[in-house]
Amino acid sequence: FPDTPVLVSLHFPQHLSTCVVPFSCCGLRFRSTSSMQGYTELARERSKTVTSFYNQSAIDTSAEKASVRLTPATLLYAGKSPDGHHILSSAKYLHKELPVRIAHRIKGFRNLPFIIGCNPTILQVHELYIRAYHVLSDFPPITDQELETRFSKLVQQLLDDHKDVVTMLAEGFRECRKHIQDETIIRNFLDTTLCSRLGIRMLATHHLALHEDNPDFVGIICRRLSPKKIIEKWVDFARRLCEHQYGNSPRVRINGHVAARFPFIPLPLDYILPELLKNAMRATMESHLDTPYNVPDVVVTIANNDTDFVIRISDRGGGIPHNIIDKVMDYHFSTAEESAQDPRMSNLLNNITNSGPQSGPMHGFGFGLPTSRAYAEYLGGSVSIQSMQGIGTDVYLRLRHIDGKGESFRV
Ligand SMILES: Nc1ncnc2c1ncn2[C@@H]1O[C@H](COP(=O)(O)OP(=O)(O)O)[C@@H](O)[C@H]1O
Ligand SMILES: [Mg+2]
Repeated sequence: FPDTPVLVSLHFPQHLSTCVVPFSCCGLRFRSTSSMQGYTELARERSKTVTSFYNQSAIDTSAEKASVRLTPATLLYAGKSPDGHHILSSAKYLHKELPVRIAHRIKGFRNLPFIIGCNPTILQVHELYIRAYHVLSDFPPITDQELETRFSKLVQQLLDDHKDVVTMLAEGFRECRKHIQDETIIRNFLDTTLCSRLGIRMLATHHLALHEDNPDFVGIICRRLSPKKIIEKWVDFARRLCEHQYGNSPRVRINGHVAARFPFIPLPLDYILPELLKNAMRATMESHLDTPYNVPDVVVTIANNDTDFVIRISDRGGGIPHNIIDKVMDYHFSTAEESAQDPRMSNLLNNITNSGPQSGPMHGFGFGLPTSRAYAEYLGGSVSIQSMQGIGTDVYLRLRHIDGKGESFRV
């Protein structure tokens, strides 16, 4: 991606110099390339980028189309035919649907204020989407098994290429936040982009999972998901991270409808639960820095009913102070830096930037709550917070059932 920064710095008005600095550094490095051949190649590359950002009639046309959103019941009952026919139709649907959804996202990038759209990290994500659009639309019609196999490989490749997009957007927006007064621009863009991304990944993963032979699953839908089991999985994960960071972690008790099982899609829970559990554990540890080996338990309660199910995570981590309660749902809001200043924290082995083994950081991006809420709302649910200042916090995650009996969300 070396070409775009050069390109942008050439056209950049001087008064925007704060933003030009990283670009022109990059540009200088590339302009010093001595060989003439290198230079022509560079020029060709550059003009390709110009085309890719400005002259995209195919993308414009796709962006005009409405996306076709499916209910989980459709996903569930579209599987399975013994001759694999369902896999072929699923691939055909994706082949048509993904470029439309990606074109909508590209439009979102183009509508960003100039100063944000020029941020190198955000440009990089924009470019990822443009590439994805092109490789998917260039793919021939999927008429047989062999093409389907190739298409699935491509989809898997794209999932991998895009896996760091949330982190990149978090970093990009953090860098250019100072230029933007209107918080709602950032919130709307991130809510829409992240939820759309979740939807795309759910569809793509569903298609790939249709190839697998697991009797408990139809694609990404688990026929009898146990909320307790999935909570336990993420409790183990969060406790390991917490121990790595604080030397100890609170125990977690799970009560309520622990035997409940129902059809649901684990994927969004795999994003939301670790975030909420990490927050509860961090608050618990940081409000007991003098007694890290004697901390109160976190209690998780499951409530299941005909319409929805609720997971409440209660901690005794001191609550969220009155003066920040309105901000914790903002993207990038985090008290990570303040708590790192506590001298008792510096005794701990690791700090926020130094994350766990392979797992991403305990906290610090300020994305946990806003992203969890956006995902939950996208799925027809909610995340709400009750803070008992001085004692602790209850976070309620509410999600609708997908069994087709009631009103459901669409992916
Ligand atoms: N259970 C909790 N108890 C106390 N404070 C919390 C809790 N959950 C979230 N917070 C506050 O909300 C802020 C934002 O949380 P989050 O969006 O997950 O970002 P991060 O964890 O990266 O800081 C945290 O920095 C913390 O100050
Ligand atoms: Mg967090």
